[in-house]
Amino acid sequence: MCNEIDLDKIDINAEPPAEEPARQYYFMARCREWVRSFERKNNRSPQACVVNMGCQMNARDSEKLRGILEQAGYQESVSEDADFVIYNTCTVRENANNKVYGRLGVLNGYQKKNPRMKIALCGCMMQEQAVVEKIRHSYPFVNLIFGTHNIYKFAELLCTVLEMEDSEGVRKRENRMVIDIWNDTDRIVEALPAQRKYSFKSGVNIMFGCNNFCSYCIVPYVRGRERSRAPEEILKEIEALARDGVKEIMLLGQNVNSYGKNLETPVTFAQLLKEVEKTEGIERIRFMTSHPKDLSDELIEVMRQSSKICRHLHLPLQSGSTDILKKMNRRYTKEQYLSLVDKLRQAMPDIAVTTDIIVGFPGETEADFEETMDVVRKVQYDSAFTFIYSKRTGTPAASMGEQVPEEIVKRRFDRLLKEVQEIAAKKAMRYTGSVQKVLVESRNEQDENLVTGRMSNNSVVHFPGTEEMIGKMIDVSLKECRGFYYIGEVCGNG
Ligand code: 5AD
Ligand code: SF4
Repeated sequence: MCNEIDLDKIDINAEPPAEEPARQYYFMARCREWVRSFERKNNRSPQACVVNMGCQMNARDSEKLRGILEQAGYQESVSEDADFVIYNTCTVRENANNKVYGRLGVLNGYQKKNPRMKIALCGCMMQEQAVVEKIRHSYPFVNLIFGTHNIYKFAELLCTVLEMEDSEGVRKRENRMVIDIWNDTDRIVEALPAQRKYSFKSGVNIMFGCNNFCSYCIVPYVRGRERSRAPEEILKEIEALARDGVKEIMLLGQNVNSYGKNLETPVTFAQLLKEVEKTEGIERIRFMTSHPKDLSDELIEVMRQSSKICRHLHLPLQSGSTDILKKMNRRYTKEQYLSLVDKLRQAMPDIAVTTDIIVGFPGETEADFEETMDVVRKVQYDSAFTFIYSKRTGTPAASMGEQVPEEIVKRRFDRLLKEVQEIAAKKAMRYTGSVQKVLVESRNEQDENLVTGRMSNNSVVHFPGTEEMIGKMIDVSLKECRGFYYIGEVCGNG
């Protein structure tokens, strides 16, 4: 989104304002001053690299970080050998944490070469106390750590780190690491800048946090309780995006179906969608993630009647066994899930359904696993993300007995993956020969004569085209299905 405040008009010698977002714009102006002095000394702009390691929510947060860095005057870099590197971390699975520790070693090498380099860590992993302790002791070269609740304060934290430098341009020894982690807050700060990855599509947060406490999941502990943004703020953001040329939006939340419950005047997600639909210029609306227990008939009806809401629903199953679902605290049964999918398909026969499945949850028997395979065969998912259960310290499942032996989990996982892939490949073929509206996203990476886009149901299509098509909605005739994508041909502009 464009900056509505002129940073050069801010008096950076005055006291920082107390109210938000004015306070953050003030610190952005101070960061910009620091950047200008860097430019004078070095004859170049400082480079910043934002590395996103998590889900769609993290990706959107990363756009906000990039927006602030851009306002400050940083140039975006894809190389981690930069003047400022920030990892926006994920902690859903244990190996995600290990990856970060490994990569920090590499960053340390870059910082030794360039002592003015700043290293920052944020995101879900930083909400874990043990992680922060470990970084404090074992990775003292890190300059800044903050969590998910105070990401809106990034400009202020960045300013603290930048201004901490001594005259040689290297950190003073006594001021090592800036750590600012909050455990919970209801605070939502609106109207901060964000730099979008794509000019024509954007994520829009509608809520933060999660109240579901699925027993395997760390998210409620690291993202806090559910907080919904006011509908007026969401609509204002979407209208501004539409004015800026955005055609497709993805409404984001851990459980969008419970949107609005905690607002002063409660609003349902379906009601919000109806309002969003009215925004002129927005042609496609997506959302994620939906919890099966909260998916209402009202929502299905709004989707059915809509020409803008995409024919795709991501509906995490997690397990097909009612016993395991109970232990997971998912609050639906296998039968309820299956009848929900039936209801969706009756309302919208062409809807693509995708899912998340965990294999090897504590106590999962062979019979439980067969129930999962049964749901997979019955639902015929268009695609499925399959995960091996990862024990997350601090979640109830981590202290459950009966952890399933690794080789059994691996065998089940391989069987599931094979089934899921076979079904997905078969289902993908059903549109071959039809004409579909495709929103063109980019040039094809392998073949520059092709462009790549997505259909309403999220399927990927490659077809001969030019750069000018990026961001446009084009009618494409699907000639051939190659497993998980289509090869097409332009039919005429839609
Ligand atoms: N182990 C494995 N997968 C997990 N997920 C969440 N927590 C865990 C865990 N501890 C998966 C769920 C969720 C997706 C985002 O990540 O399937 O839907
Ligand atoms: Fe985690 Fe469950 Fe919340 Fe999803 S709904 S974020 S799986 S606790």
